[in-house]
Amino acid sequence: MKELNIAVLAGDGIGPEIMEQALKITKAVCNKFGHKLNYKEGLTGAIAIDTVGDPYPSSTHELCMNSDAVLFGAIGHPKFDNDPSAKVRPEQGLLRMRQMLGLYGNIRPVMTFPSLIHKSPLRSDIVEGADFMCIRELTGGLYFGRPQGRSEDGNTAYDTCVYTREEIERILHLAYKFAGQRNKKVTVVDKANVLATSRLWRQVAQDIAPQYPDVETEYMFVDNAAMRIIQWPKSFDVLVTENLFGDILTDEASVITGSLGLLPSASVGIHTSLFEPIHGSYPQAAGKNIANPIAMILSAALMFEYAFKMMEEGALIREAVNASLEAGIVTEDIADGGKSYSTSEVGEWIVNYIEK
Ligand code: IPM
Ligand code: MG
Repeated sequence: MKELNIAVLAGDGIGPEIMEQALKITKAVCNKFGHKLNYKEGLTGAIAIDTVGDPYPSSTHELCMNSDAVLFGAIGHPKFDNDPSAKVRPEQGLLRMRQMLGLYGNIRPVMTFPSLIHKSPLRSDIVEGADFMCIRELTGGLYFGRPQGRSEDGNTAYDTCVYTREEIERILHLAYKFAGQRNKKVTVVDKANVLATSRLWRQVAQDIAPQYPDVETEYMFVDNAAMRIIQWPKSFDVLVTENLFGDILTDEASVITGSLGLLPSASVGIHTSLFEPIHGSYPQAAGKNIANPIAMILSAALMFEYAFKMMEEGALIREAVNASLEAGIVTEDIADGGKSYSTSEVGEWIVNYIEK
Protein backbone atom coordinates (compact mmCIF):
# COMPACT_ATOMS: atom_id res chain seq x y z
CA MET A 1 0.00 0.00 0.00
CA LYS A 2 1.12 3.48 -0.78
CA GLU A 3 -0.19 6.85 0.26
CA LEU A 4 -0.84 9.43 -2.46
CA ASN A 5 -0.93 13.08 -1.42
CA ILE A 6 -2.22 15.18 -4.26
CA ALA A 7 -3.12 18.82 -4.77
CA VAL A 8 -6.28 19.37 -6.78
CA LEU A 9 -6.51 22.66 -8.68
CA ALA A 10 -9.72 22.57 -10.70
CA GLY A 11 -9.49 26.18 -11.90
CA ASP A 12 -12.01 27.82 -14.22
CA GLY A 13 -14.65 27.01 -16.83
CA ILE A 14 -15.11 23.29 -17.29
CA GLY A 15 -12.19 22.62 -14.90
CA PRO A 16 -14.34 21.64 -11.90
CA GLU A 17 -16.61 19.29 -13.90
CA ILE A 18 -13.85 17.35 -15.57
CA MET A 19 -11.80 17.31 -12.37
CA GLU A 20 -14.71 15.66 -10.56
CA GLN A 21 -14.54 12.78 -13.05
CA ALA A 22 -10.77 12.42 -12.80
CA LEU A 23 -11.03 12.35 -9.01
CA LYS A 24 -13.75 9.68 -9.05
CA ILE A 25 -11.53 7.58 -11.24
CA THR A 26 -8.42 8.22 -9.16
CA LYS A 27 -10.35 7.10 -6.07
CA ALA A 28 -11.61 3.97 -7.81
CA VAL A 29 -8.08 3.05 -8.88
CA CYS A 30 -6.72 3.64 -5.37
CA ASN A 31 -9.47 1.44 -3.89
CA LYS A 32 -8.77 -1.30 -6.37
CA PHE A 33 -5.03 -1.34 -5.74
CA GLY A 34 -5.26 -0.68 -2.01
CA HIS A 35 -3.62 2.77 -1.99
CA LYS A 36 -4.62 5.56 0.34
CA LEU A 37 -5.61 8.78 -1.41
CA ASN A 38 -5.36 12.13 0.35
CA TYR A 39 -6.23 15.20 -1.65
CA LYS A 40 -6.61 18.89 -0.93
CA GLU A 41 -8.15 21.50 -3.19
CA GLY A 42 -6.49 24.82 -4.00
CA LEU A 43 -7.57 27.99 -5.75
CA THR A 44 -6.08 29.07 -9.05
CA GLY A 45 -7.00 31.10 -12.15
CA ALA A 46 -9.87 33.55 -12.59
CA ILE A 47 -11.73 32.09 -9.64
CA ALA A 48 -8.68 32.80 -7.46
CA ILE A 49 -8.53 36.39 -8.77
CA ASP A 50 -12.20 36.83 -7.90
CA THR A 51 -11.85 35.35 -4.42
CA VAL A 52 -8.41 36.45 -3.22
CA GLY A 53 -7.13 38.82 -5.93
CA ASP A 54 -4.27 36.55 -7.03
CA PRO A 55 -4.36 33.82 -9.73
CA TYR A 56 -1.74 31.73 -7.88
CA PRO A 57 -2.00 32.57 -4.18
CA SER A 58 0.81 31.55 -1.85
CA SER A 59 -1.51 29.13 -0.05
CA THR A 60 -1.93 27.26 -3.33
CA HIS A 61 1.82 27.26 -3.91
CA GLU A 62 2.42 25.81 -0.44
CA LEU A 63 -0.17 23.14 -1.07
CA CYS A 64 1.55 22.17 -4.33
CA MET A 65 4.99 22.13 -2.70
CA ASN A 66 3.71 19.83 0.04
CA SER A 67 2.02 17.36 -2.32
CA ASP A 68 3.41 14.44 -4.32
CA ALA A 69 1.59 15.53 -7.48
CA VAL A 70 -0.68 18.29 -8.73
CA LEU A 71 -3.81 17.59 -10.77
CA PHE A 72 -4.72 20.71 -12.67
CA GLY A 73 -7.95 21.42 -14.59
CA ALA A 74 -7.91 24.56 -16.72
CA ILE A 75 -7.69 28.29 -16.27
CA GLY A 76 -8.91 31.32 -18.16
CA HIS A 77 -12.01 33.43 -18.41
CA PRO A 78 -13.22 35.50 -21.39
CA LYS A 79 -13.73 38.58 -19.24
CA PHE A 80 -9.94 39.00 -19.13
CA ASP A 81 -9.16 38.23 -22.77
CA ASN A 82 -10.20 41.46 -24.41
CA ASP A 83 -9.29 43.79 -21.63
CA PRO A 84 -5.76 45.09 -22.23
CA SER A 85 -6.01 47.11 -19.03
CA ALA A 86 -6.59 44.11 -16.75
CA LYS A 87 -3.82 44.23 -14.16
CA VAL A 88 -3.94 40.56 -13.24
CA ARG A 89 -4.78 37.73 -15.60
CA PRO A 90 -5.47 34.07 -14.93
CA GLU A 91 -2.63 33.07 -17.28
CA GLN A 92 -0.13 34.90 -15.08
CA GLY A 93 -1.03 32.41 -12.37
CA LEU A 94 -0.19 29.53 -14.66
CA LEU A 95 3.14 31.04 -15.65
CA ARG A 96 4.06 31.84 -12.05
CA MET A 97 3.10 28.34 -11.00
CA ARG A 98 5.34 26.82 -13.69
CA GLN A 99 8.20 29.04 -12.63
CA MET A 100 7.84 28.61 -8.88
CA LEU A 101 7.48 24.82 -9.14
CA GLY A 102 10.41 24.74 -11.58
CA LEU A 103 8.35 22.83 -14.16
CA TYR A 104 10.79 23.11 -17.02
CA GLY A 105 9.65 20.07 -18.97
CA ASN A 106 6.21 19.87 -20.52
CA ILE A 107 5.46 16.45 -21.93
CA ARG A 108 2.65 16.19 -24.43
CA PRO A 109 2.13 12.73 -25.88
CA VAL A 110 0.43 12.66 -29.26
CA MET A 111 -1.41 9.42 -29.80
CA THR A 112 -4.31 8.33 -31.91
CA PHE A 113 -7.45 6.50 -30.85
CA PRO A 114 -8.46 3.91 -33.45
CA SER A 115 -12.18 4.60 -32.98
CA LEU A 116 -11.67 8.32 -33.65
CA ILE A 117 -9.25 8.30 -36.59
CA HIS A 118 -12.07 9.30 -38.93
CA LYS A 119 -12.42 12.59 -37.02
CA SER A 120 -8.87 13.65 -37.80
CA PRO A 121 -8.54 16.52 -40.27
CA LEU A 122 -5.82 14.42 -41.92
CA ARG A 123 -6.25 11.38 -44.16
CA SER A 124 -6.39 8.26 -42.05
CA ASP A 125 -3.39 6.65 -43.78
CA ILE A 126 -1.29 9.63 -42.71
CA VAL A 127 -2.37 9.68 -39.10
CA GLU A 128 -3.03 6.00 -38.33
CA GLY A 129 -0.38 4.73 -35.94
CA ALA A 130 1.14 8.15 -35.29
CA ASP A 131 2.60 8.10 -31.80
CA PHE A 132 5.10 10.68 -30.68
CA MET A 133 5.95 12.82 -27.74
CA CYS A 134 6.44 16.57 -27.75
CA ILE A 135 8.73 17.86 -25.05
CA ARG A 136 8.38 21.57 -24.65
CA GLU A 137 10.75 23.67 -22.54
CA LEU A 138 8.39 25.50 -20.19
CA THR A 139 10.20 28.01 -18.00
CA GLY A 140 12.50 29.90 -20.37
CA GLY A 141 12.59 31.67 -23.70
CA LEU A 142 10.32 34.54 -24.72
CA TYR A 143 7.79 33.75 -22.02
CA PHE A 144 10.14 34.71 -19.23
CA GLY A 145 13.06 36.62 -20.78
CA ARG A 146 13.66 40.15 -19.57
CA PRO A 147 13.52 42.94 -20.56
CA GLN A 148 9.97 42.80 -21.75
CA GLY A 149 7.75 45.81 -22.20
CA ARG A 150 7.21 49.09 -23.99
CA SER A 151 9.23 52.16 -24.72
CA GLU A 152 8.29 55.35 -22.92
CA ASP A 153 6.18 56.67 -25.80
CA GLY A 154 4.38 53.32 -25.93
CA ASN A 155 5.09 52.82 -29.64
CA THR A 156 7.80 50.21 -29.38
CA ALA A 157 7.42 46.85 -27.63
CA TYR A 158 9.97 44.14 -26.95
CA ASP A 159 10.31 40.62 -25.62
CA THR A 160 13.60 38.91 -25.00
CA CYS A 161 14.46 35.31 -25.77
CA VAL A 162 17.03 33.99 -23.30
CA TYR A 163 18.35 30.45 -22.81
CA THR A 164 21.28 29.27 -20.77
CA ARG A 165 23.29 26.12 -21.48
CA GLU A 166 22.02 24.62 -18.24
CA GLU A 167 18.37 25.16 -19.19
CA ILE A 168 18.91 23.56 -22.58
CA GLU A 169 20.91 20.65 -21.18
CA ARG A 170 18.29 19.56 -18.66
CA ILE A 171 15.43 19.55 -21.16
CA LEU A 172 17.51 17.71 -23.74
CA HIS A 173 18.48 15.05 -21.19
CA LEU A 174 14.79 14.56 -20.49
CA ALA A 175 14.10 14.14 -24.20
CA TYR A 176 16.94 11.63 -24.69
CA LYS A 177 15.79 9.61 -21.68
CA PHE A 178 12.28 9.33 -23.07
CA ALA A 179 13.60 8.46 -26.52
CA GLY A 180 15.74 5.72 -25.00
CA GLN A 181 12.57 4.08 -23.69
CA ARG A 182 10.68 4.63 -26.94
CA ASN A 183 11.79 4.46 -30.57
CA LYS A 184 15.22 5.99 -30.04
CA LYS A 185 14.95 9.15 -32.06
CA VAL A 186 15.09 12.77 -30.92
CA THR A 187 14.13 15.64 -33.22
CA VAL A 188 15.55 18.94 -31.98
CA VAL A 189 13.37 21.72 -33.37
CA ASP A 190 14.79 25.22 -33.61
CA LYS A 191 15.37 28.19 -35.87
CA ALA A 192 19.14 27.99 -35.90
CA ASN A 193 19.34 29.66 -39.31
CA VAL A 194 18.13 32.90 -37.69
CA LEU A 195 18.20 32.88 -33.89
CA ALA A 196 21.20 32.95 -31.55
CA THR A 197 19.33 31.01 -28.87
CA SER A 198 18.56 28.31 -31.41
CA ARG A 199 22.21 28.05 -32.35
CA LEU A 200 23.04 27.47 -28.68
CA TRP A 201 20.32 24.77 -28.54
CA ARG A 202 21.87 23.03 -31.49
CA GLN A 203 25.38 23.28 -30.08
CA VAL A 204 24.29 21.88 -26.71
CA ALA A 205 22.42 19.07 -28.47
CA GLN A 206 25.58 18.19 -30.39
CA ASP A 207 27.51 18.11 -27.11
CA ILE A 208 24.98 15.88 -25.38
CA ALA A 209 24.03 13.48 -28.17
CA PRO A 210 27.17 11.29 -27.82
CA GLN A 211 26.05 10.41 -24.27
CA TYR A 212 23.10 8.58 -25.84
CA PRO A 213 24.72 6.49 -28.55
CA ASP A 214 21.63 4.34 -29.13
CA VAL A 215 19.44 7.38 -29.85
CA GLU A 216 19.44 9.01 -33.26
CA THR A 217 19.40 12.84 -33.34
CA GLU A 218 17.68 14.81 -36.06
CA TYR A 219 17.74 18.62 -36.36
CA MET A 220 14.82 20.44 -37.90
CA PHE A 221 13.85 24.07 -38.37
CA VAL A 222 10.55 24.93 -36.75
CA ASP A 223 8.81 25.96 -39.97
CA ASN A 224 9.71 22.66 -41.54
CA ALA A 225 8.60 20.81 -38.40
CA ALA A 226 5.18 22.50 -38.58
CA MET A 227 4.85 21.11 -42.08
CA ARG A 228 6.16 17.66 -41.27
CA ILE A 229 3.75 17.21 -38.36
CA ILE A 230 0.83 17.22 -40.78
CA GLN A 231 2.61 15.60 -43.72
CA TRP A 232 4.36 12.75 -41.99
CA PRO A 233 3.52 12.61 -38.27
CA LYS A 234 4.71 9.01 -38.09
CA SER A 235 8.30 10.16 -38.68
CA PHE A 236 8.54 11.61 -35.15
CA ASP A 237 9.37 9.82 -31.93
CA VAL A 238 10.44 12.50 -29.42
CA LEU A 239 10.29 16.13 -30.55
CA VAL A 240 12.01 18.61 -28.23
CA THR A 241 11.87 22.37 -28.55
CA GLU A 242 11.86 25.71 -26.78
CA ASN A 243 8.87 27.29 -25.06
CA LEU A 244 7.08 29.30 -27.75
CA PHE A 245 7.77 26.89 -30.62
CA GLY A 246 6.51 24.13 -28.34
CA ASP A 247 3.35 26.04 -27.49
CA ILE A 248 2.48 26.39 -31.16
CA LEU A 249 3.55 22.95 -32.36
CA THR A 250 1.75 21.09 -29.57
CA ASP A 251 -1.57 22.73 -30.44
CA GLU A 252 -1.01 21.69 -34.02
CA ALA A 253 0.01 18.17 -33.04
CA SER A 254 -2.91 17.71 -30.67
CA VAL A 255 -5.61 18.13 -33.33
CA ILE A 256 -4.23 15.66 -35.83
CA THR A 257 -5.55 12.88 -33.60
CA GLY A 258 -9.17 13.93 -34.02
CA SER A 259 -10.00 15.71 -30.80
CA LEU A 260 -8.36 18.28 -28.63
CA GLY A 261 -10.50 17.00 -25.75
CA LEU A 262 -8.52 13.80 -25.52
CA LEU A 263 -4.90 14.60 -24.87
CA PRO A 264 -3.27 14.90 -21.45
CA SER A 265 0.04 16.45 -20.47
CA ALA A 266 2.60 16.27 -17.70
CA SER A 267 4.89 19.04 -16.50
CA VAL A 268 7.95 17.95 -14.61
CA GLY A 269 10.99 19.62 -13.16
CA ILE A 270 12.46 20.66 -9.86
CA HIS A 271 9.52 20.42 -7.45
CA THR A 272 6.11 18.72 -7.61
CA SER A 273 5.03 17.46 -11.05
CA LEU A 274 1.77 18.64 -12.53
CA PHE A 275 -0.75 16.88 -14.74
CA GLU A 276 -3.28 18.69 -16.88
CA PRO A 277 -5.31 18.36 -20.08
CA ILE A 278 -3.97 20.14 -23.16
CA HIS A 279 -7.27 21.90 -23.79
CA GLY A 280 -8.35 25.12 -22.11
CA SER A 281 -11.23 26.14 -19.86
CA TYR A 282 -13.92 26.09 -22.61
CA PRO A 283 -16.07 28.71 -20.85
CA GLN A 284 -19.01 28.28 -23.25
CA ALA A 285 -19.56 24.78 -21.88
CA ALA A 286 -18.99 25.54 -18.20
CA GLY A 287 -21.64 24.13 -15.88
CA LYS A 288 -23.47 22.29 -18.66
CA ASN A 289 -22.11 18.81 -17.97
CA ILE A 290 -21.19 18.38 -21.65
CA ALA A 291 -17.41 18.78 -21.68
CA ASN A 292 -15.22 15.84 -22.64
CA PRO A 293 -13.47 14.60 -19.48
CA ILE A 294 -11.07 12.20 -21.25
CA ALA A 295 -7.98 14.44 -21.39
CA MET A 296 -8.36 15.15 -17.67
CA ILE A 297 -8.83 11.45 -16.93
CA LEU A 298 -5.77 10.54 -19.01
CA SER A 299 -3.85 13.22 -17.10
CA ALA A 300 -4.64 11.23 -13.94
CA ALA A 301 -3.24 8.15 -15.72
CA LEU A 302 -0.02 10.07 -16.44
CA MET A 303 0.08 11.08 -12.78
CA PHE A 304 0.01 7.45 -11.64
CA GLU A 305 2.74 6.57 -14.12
CA TYR A 306 5.13 9.51 -13.81
CA ALA A 307 4.64 10.76 -10.25
CA PHE A 308 4.07 7.43 -8.52
CA LYS A 309 5.66 4.93 -10.93
CA MET A 310 2.40 2.97 -10.79
CA MET A 311 2.33 1.61 -14.31
CA GLU A 312 -0.47 -0.93 -13.86
CA GLU A 313 -2.74 1.70 -12.36
CA GLY A 314 -2.10 4.04 -15.29
CA ALA A 315 -2.60 1.22 -17.79
CA LEU A 316 -5.95 0.33 -16.25
CA ILE A 317 -7.19 3.89 -16.72
CA ARG A 318 -6.06 3.86 -20.35
CA GLU A 319 -7.76 0.54 -20.92
CA ALA A 320 -11.00 1.86 -19.39
CA VAL A 321 -10.83 5.02 -21.51
CA ASN A 322 -10.30 3.01 -24.70
CA ALA A 323 -13.19 0.73 -23.74
CA SER A 324 -15.48 3.74 -23.25
CA LEU A 325 -14.54 5.11 -26.69
CA GLU A 326 -15.05 1.72 -28.34
CA ALA A 327 -18.43 1.36 -26.62
CA GLY A 328 -19.48 4.82 -27.84
CA ILE A 329 -19.87 6.19 -24.32
CA VAL A 330 -18.70 9.62 -25.43
CA THR A 331 -19.55 13.28 -24.99
CA GLU A 332 -21.22 15.19 -27.82
CA ASP A 333 -17.99 16.66 -29.25
CA ILE A 334 -17.00 13.22 -30.54
CA ALA A 335 -20.43 11.57 -30.80
CA ASP A 336 -20.74 12.32 -34.54
CA GLY A 337 -24.42 13.12 -34.20
CA GLY A 338 -25.00 9.74 -32.58
CA LYS A 339 -26.02 9.18 -29.00
CA SER A 340 -23.96 11.23 -26.60
CA TYR A 341 -23.44 11.12 -22.87
CA SER A 342 -22.85 13.78 -20.27
CA THR A 343 -19.49 14.51 -18.65
CA SER A 344 -20.53 12.73 -15.47
CA GLU A 345 -22.02 9.74 -17.30
CA VAL A 346 -18.74 9.16 -19.12
CA GLY A 347 -16.92 9.43 -15.77
CA GLU A 348 -19.30 6.96 -14.11
CA TRP A 349 -18.99 4.46 -16.95
CA ILE A 350 -15.21 4.51 -16.59
CA VAL A 351 -15.45 4.14 -12.80
CA ASN A 352 -17.69 1.08 -13.26
CA TYR A 353 -15.25 -0.41 -15.73
CA ILE A 354 -12.41 0.03 -13.26
CA GLU A 355 -14.37 -1.46 -10.37
CA LYS A 356 -15.42 -4.59 -12.19
C1 IPM B 1 -0.53 26.26 -22.90
C2 IPM B 1 -1.27 27.57 -22.94
C3 IPM B 1 -0.51 28.60 -22.11
C4 IPM B 1 0.85 28.79 -22.73
C5 IPM B 1 -1.22 29.96 -21.97
C6 IPM B 1 -2.62 29.80 -21.38
C7 IPM B 1 -0.41 30.94 -21.17
O1 IPM B 1 -1.46 28.00 -24.24
O2 IPM B 1 -0.37 25.70 -21.80
O3 IPM B 1 -0.10 25.79 -23.95
O4 IPM B 1 1.01 29.55 -23.69
O5 IPM B 1 1.79 28.16 -22.27
MG1 MG C 1 -0.75 26.62 -25.71
